[in-house]
Amino acid sequence: PPAGGMGTEASSIGQRRSSLHGHWSSRAAFILAVTGSAVGLGNIWKFPYITGENGGGAFVLLYLGCVFAVGMPILVSEVLLGRRGRRNPIATMAILGQEEGGSRHWRLVGTMGVITGLLILSFYSVIAGWSLAYALKSAVGSFAGTDARSAAIEFFTFTGNWKALLAWHAVFMAMTVFVVAAGVQHGLERAVRVLMPLLVVMLLVLVAYSARYGAFEETLVYLFKPDFSELSGESMLIALGHCFFTLSIGMGVVMAYGAYLPEGTSIAASSLTVVLADTVIALLAGMAVFPLVFGNGLNPAEGPGLVFETLPIAFGQLPAGSVFGTVFFLLLTFAAWTSAIGLLEPAVAWIVERHQRSRVVGALVVGGLTWLMGLATVLSFNVLSDLRFGRGTLFQNIDFLASNILLPASALLITVFAGWIMCRNSSSEELAMGSGLLYKGWRLLSRVVAPLAIIVIAFRAVGVI
Ligand code: PFF
Repeated sequence: PPAGGMGTEASSIGQRRSSLHGHWSSRAAFILAVTGSAVGLGNIWKFPYITGENGGGAFVLLYLGCVFAVGMPILVSEVLLGRRGRRNPIATMAILGQEEGGSRHWRLVGTMGVITGLLILSFYSVIAGWSLAYALKSAVGSFAGTDARSAAIEFFTFTGNWKALLAWHAVFMAMTVFVVAAGVQHGLERAVRVLMPLLVVMLLVLVAYSARYGAFEETLVYLFKPDFSELSGESMLIALGHCFFTLSIGMGVVMAYGAYLPEGTSIAASSLTVVLADTVIALLAGMAVFPLVFGNGLNPAEGPGLVFETLPIAFGQLPAGSVFGTVFFLLLTFAAWTSAIGLLEPAVAWIVERHQRSRVVGALVVGGLTWLMGLATVLSFNVLSDLRFGRGTLFQNIDFLASNILLPASALLITVFAGWIMCRNSSSEELAMGSGLLYKGWRLLSRVVAPLAIIVIAFRAVGVI
């Protein structure tokens, strides 16, 4: 049968495959979509709190190193594989595995990515649901006069109510299914064209607000003055895991988006733009969150509750806090939305191609299943909160398994495939960089630096080094 499960399988020489789902209308649309997928809870919710937990500046430096030396070459590889295969990630890896490495087993890398993506979406959507709920709470003024005790009680009561969490999770998942069902140009592209500019404006407004009312200088010192004594082996694993998470690599999302990239668009330039945008937005998010945290004497190492438990205290004390609080949680929701559509897309593309169902059916089925999987995360905060093992609660274990084990593992396989298995001609043809310095740089990073970094850090994590 044709490797894509449907359609014709063209040879890589001469005749090129085309996507069955249409294409982005322009390079800008692709950049917006990948940036939309990259910028999410990871930037606005997770980056600030892991930076807080790992001591600030030194962690930021480590993270930047990971992003540029390891994340970026892999991002380039993933786009390149996606555009070359032009199918859903599973079929793409099967086709390319056959063409380049003589084995269709490489499809397992695609499968692992798609499953990891759904695992992530299952908890991502729950947290995004909190964000929706908090936007509403802020808009109706429920943060006014909040102090540390009442914010903690509010958060505890809210997360303690599993039915409410499940309902908000359902609302967010429905929003995601709605966009994906509408297709590449009518759904995904239209959503990012509206949401991304809005997101940037909201973020800038919040940074200005924080600079006006918070401890901005202290934040700059915290984020940019490294203290290496705070770094542990564990911090390295977290920085690397987060670099994959924030760039959305290893999950087939970028591969699926790459499949819709028009011919002739520069993969390297687009990827660099995405990486820069994602990094700048993460740092801006830090500059929006930490001034309020420091200015109100709150704890930056608060953990996952940082933006939900800590920020309402700040918004509750500051002028026009309910307006800006609402803006903050809407920003978080929009950022999560453009990421969630990316997490759903690969599995939906697979159903459409493999099982010849419509996008609507695909999105409903996958969205419904992922919503059910989210029950594990929902219950981790209430009914099952006493169930602790490994990394902590069920949610913490799912997050660790997906972000710190499956993601690096599939990123490793992707970079090995693009760097070692794929022949030079194919990758240089697809990257269209000739065989100059840039191409050599990418090859060195993806063949040696990225795999070594992942392996060393993984060994360190399990205590071998
Ligand atoms: N990059 C997103 C974030 O930083 O929140 C999370 C994410 C989206 C991860 C899409 C993976 C993905 F495929």
